[in-house]
Amino acid sequence: MVFPMSKVRKAVIPAAGLGTRFLPATKTVPKEMLPIIDRPILMYIVEEAVRAGIEDIVLVAGRGKHAIEDFFDVSYELEDKLARDGKDAWLESLRKIRDAANIISIRQMRPLGLGHAIGCAKPIIGSEPFAVLLGDEIMIADKDKPTVTGQLARSFEQSGMSTVAVMEVPASETHKYGIVEGETTAMPDGGTRIRVGNVIEKPTAGQSSSRWALPGRYVFDASIFGHIASTKPGKNGEIQLTDAMVAVAKEKGLLAQTFTSRRFDAGDKLGYLQANIELALEHPELGTALRQYLQTLGKTL
Ligand code: UTP
Repeated sequence: MVFPMSKVRKAVIPAAGLGTRFLPATKTVPKEMLPIIDRPILMYIVEEAVRAGIEDIVLVAGRGKHAIEDFFDVSYELEDKLARDGKDAWLESLRKIRDAANIISIRQMRPLGLGHAIGCAKPIIGSEPFAVLLGDEIMIADKDKPTVTGQLARSFEQSGMSTVAVMEVPASETHKYGIVEGETTAMPDGGTRIRVGNVIEKPTAGQSSSRWALPGRYVFDASIFGHIASTKPGKNGEIQLTDAMVAVAKEKGLLAQTFTSRRFDAGDKLGYLQANIELALEHPELGTALRQYLQTLGKTL
């Protein structure tokens, strides 16, 4: 089957970081497998990719690879028991996970940084454009709105240019993110688009001329692999994705744009708790009881 090269069909989910902010839990469980209510963080990310039309997902795993692989594998004993007990809804939910997309798991031997993790996916991505969804960032789109990955894919398909998601953060938070600088224009939907001139890795307040932060959603054409390969280790000895993005911006041009989803930094303890609370409040079985509990708790705070 021949696909038009501009269609974004593949995605990479890097999930091989050490997750030090979640130690000791992440000594044995990859942070991407920590649950938000009853589903691992990774499941929310795979669902976003699938909703955006992604067909092949490359999971870049490190330690704890088996927990990630097993989650997307057939669990024969469990499924057999559920079938015998007539637990069809649970059975269906397990099957849905497995059938969501083609999941290809690869290993990053050492956590040498986000750029390096993405570079590991080159043999599978080949020359196609692809999305990147960080394995610890949850983006929840309203039912009638496109996902962040969908918005970036659309931009790529229309402009032919690699496009990354950005959000404005306070100056006191720029040190937590890659920050994009460039010329801004207003988009018809009320969002902002930036023609990227520079990307700075985790600048302190005032070290960058803007506050447009990268929360971890990207669509690149395959030329990024060449730039990753020639990127020298930067901060903390890691191969930074931001350095390769600067090279893309200079060579072919790079767009950044705002998005409409709610975002939770589930790799951070507070963000993780916020995701659990907000999504549980919307949960059909838990919402009412949790709301009542929080209201009672609120009176004592
Ligand atoms: P983070 O920097 O948030 O992940 O990377 P980390 O290093 O695991 O986190 P802390 O700071 O130690 O708690 C963002 C995403 O990139 C992946 C991570 O798994 C995470 O999903 N990543 C990072 C890799 O796959 N490989 C790396 O070498 C680094």
